[in-house]
Amino acid sequence: MLRTLAAQIKQYKRSVLLTPVWTSLEVVVEVLIPYVTASLIDKGINAGNMHEVYRYGAMMVGMACLSMLFGILAGRFAAYSSTGVAANLREAMYRNIQRFSFSDIDKYGTASLVTRMTTDVANVQGAIQMLLRVSFRAPLSLVFSIFMCLFIDSRLSLIFIIAMVVLTTCLALLISRAAKLFKEIFPKYDSLNLVVKENIDAIKVVKAYAREHHEMSKFDKAALALYNLNLKAEGLMALNGPVMNLVVYACMISLSWFGARFIVGGTLTTGELTSLFTYVMTILGSLMMLSMIFVQLTQSAASGSRIAEVIEEVPDMLDPTEPDTVITDGRVDFDHVCFSYKAAGDAGVIDTASLESGDYALSDIDLHFDSGETIGIIGGTGSGKSTLGSLVARLYDATKGTVSVGGKDVRSYSQDALRQKVVTVLQQSVLFSGTILDNLRWGNPDATREECIEACKAACADEFISSFPDGYDTVIDQGGTNVSGGQRQRICIARALLKNPSVLILDDSTSAVDTATDAGIRRTFAEKIPGVTKIIISQRILSIMDADRIVVMDSGKVNGIGTHKELLEGNEIYKDIWSMQTSGGEGDFDEPVNTAKEALA
Ligand SMILES: Nc1ncnc2c1ncn2[C@@H]1O[C@H](COP(=O)(O)OP(=O)(O)OP(=O)(O)O)[C@@H](O)[C@H]1O
Ligand SMILES: [Mg+2]
Repeated sequence: MLRTLAAQIKQYKRSVLLTPVWTSLEVVVEVLIPYVTASLIDKGINAGNMHEVYRYGAMMVGMACLSMLFGILAGRFAAYSSTGVAANLREAMYRNIQRFSFSDIDKYGTASLVTRMTTDVANVQGAIQMLLRVSFRAPLSLVFSIFMCLFIDSRLSLIFIIAMVVLTTCLALLISRAAKLFKEIFPKYDSLNLVVKENIDAIKVVKAYAREHHEMSKFDKAALALYNLNLKAEGLMALNGPVMNLVVYACMISLSWFGARFIVGGTLTTGELTSLFTYVMTILGSLMMLSMIFVQLTQSAASGSRIAEVIEEVPDMLDPTEPDTVITDGRVDFDHVCFSYKAAGDAGVIDTASLESGDYALSDIDLHFDSGETIGIIGGTGSGKSTLGSLVARLYDATKGTVSVGGKDVRSYSQDALRQKVVTVLQQSVLFSGTILDNLRWGNPDATREECIEACKAACADEFISSFPDGYDTVIDQGGTNVSGGQRQRICIARALLKNPSVLILDDSTSAVDTATDAGIRRTFAEKIPGVTKIIISQRILSIMDADRIVVMDSGKVNGIGTHKELLEGNEIYKDIWSMQTSGGEGDFDEPVNTAKEALA
């Protein structure tokens, strides 16, 4: 972990190294000031020599200015280094997260990744600053003061040696217990962030269902768990102060007791006893400071390891050493493919033999689609349609068997090249803030305005976009909340078309589009991109009935494959779906159902 974090010091190495230098100089000057003061009193005031008073006075002013200068430099360098390293850590995490596969993201969860990039980094930043500023200062003063104590009176030094042992033991006990609690705190932050993220993302759903109270209690529960743990840990750490005070006063009393005896015995002067008091205070103060560093370090060690975990995470899906970059055609083959979300991301760790049949989202899929074919995929919810689609663009790796595109295993291509040619319109259509044109060019930055309009026409999106006052320059709000669900889906389809794919996968991408427009999109697909393999996943038979072949999925298995007519004759599930969707004439299904029936006749 330390090595990973230290590697992010990068361009801040110089200031990281210089901070302790400034701090040490500050300490040296600070420590020397009392000597000058002593000389000023002895040689100046007591001797009645004003010349010496001015000389030492000027020296003290100069030293105070120097100490301030070094202090300012140390502070500035520490702040510069810690904020810089924190920025590097965030950048390193962000960069690696961009390489994450779907299963890596599933593993961490988005809320946890956000906590790690914010709260955890802030923690580490605080620790670095403290470490740079204090960690040199405290040991320096400690060593120097111990040396002075031993020098003045080694018998009395026994007192502070005992005090140091007692204080260190107590602090060690406290810190080790608190460290355990601090480790538990961060997962609690994750849970809290998860609740907040879910709520804010879905605030409209929450309001529509009047579930504010329920959401509030969910939040309270997560917040209370965090509060309780924090209270426990901070409560333990608060014992630090009283323990310190106890030891300090015990030291003072013992020093006074024995010191007074030595003074009476003539083996110690009053001046020496006074300076011993000062040094003992410095020693215990430095110990206290060191203990605070330990506390901060234990707190941030948990954060540090969470950050290092993200930076060190080797994405489970890596490109081969000599990847293929050319995808010749849109052929898609599934050769006895099985897939389990449990094994995803842990390939090689989980023994596939230990997986039970229930663990598989897909079992023994053997399908072969020709280039340019239009394939419909239908099945109940949770039957594995999206999972099947996601394997083609290698969003997940097959647990067993191989998925091939253009006749080659998808794992032999570079992911970038593969996803340039195999484009998936995901079930969840997401747009980014920016204009419609920005969103369209998101898939292909080089697309001209004309190409964008062409793609929108094919996706039946041109009509509604043109009706906006700002047309293609209409600004989309974050997440695409200012366009309707169906409009969003069509922009997403156009965005995918602009990539000139060889294989286009539409995962329920027209579910919010009315059936007439849906039919229009399929018509333009057939006319404009005949060579592209189109895999259309849908719950609606009307969306896929005119496909060349239709695959019926059931519980992760292929239940049947054939044309609409063949399936209606021989596949029970398909027949059921058909009769359910054609009977009853539910509103918007009326007209297209008639079209569908006509098509059948
Ligand atoms: N990220 C995931 N992690 C774990 N399990 C998952 C994940 N995504 C889906 N599953 C599980 O895999 C199975 C198949 O899911 P899939 O999303 O492929 O279904 P689907 O046919 O697309 O359903 P729908 O029509 O509702 O979209 C389901 O049992 C689901 O619970
Ligand atoms: Mg799905």
